[in-house]
Amino acid sequence: MIWNPFKSKGPTLTFLPDNRTVTVKPETTVLQAAIDHNINLRHACDGNLACSTCHIYIHDGGEYLPEPSLEEEDRLESADSPQACSRLACQVRVIHDLVIEIPPSHIA
Ligand code: FES
Repeated sequence: MIWNPFKSKGPTLTFLPDNRTVTVKPETTVLQAAIDHNINLRHACDGNLACSTCHIYIHDGGEYLPEPSLEEEDRLESADSPQACSRLACQVRVIHDLVIEIPPSHIA
C-alpha cells in the first residue's frame, strides 16, 4: 500500500524473513529503520556506501523508489547473490510502504 502523507503515521516497512512490520518517519533509510527497531542487518561501513553488507531485496514497493546511484550499483555487484530487486539498505529512503527481505548472509 502506498503511504498516504495525510495519514498520521508514516510509511510501513516489513522485514522478511522475520515478517516484522514497523512504521517509520518518511525519508528514514531502511538501515536506520532496522537499527531503530533492533532488526539484525549487517552494516560494516555504517552507511557510507563503502561495502555491500547492508544488501537487501525489495519485494514490494520498489517501483516507487528512485533508481540506485551508479555508486550503489557498483557496490551491489560485489553483493552476495544480487537480483534485479537488490538494493543497499543504507541508500534507500522510505517514502511509502515497502516489503524487504534480508538475505541470510546479511543478517547480523
Ligand atoms: S552499510 Fe556499507 S554500504 Fe550500506
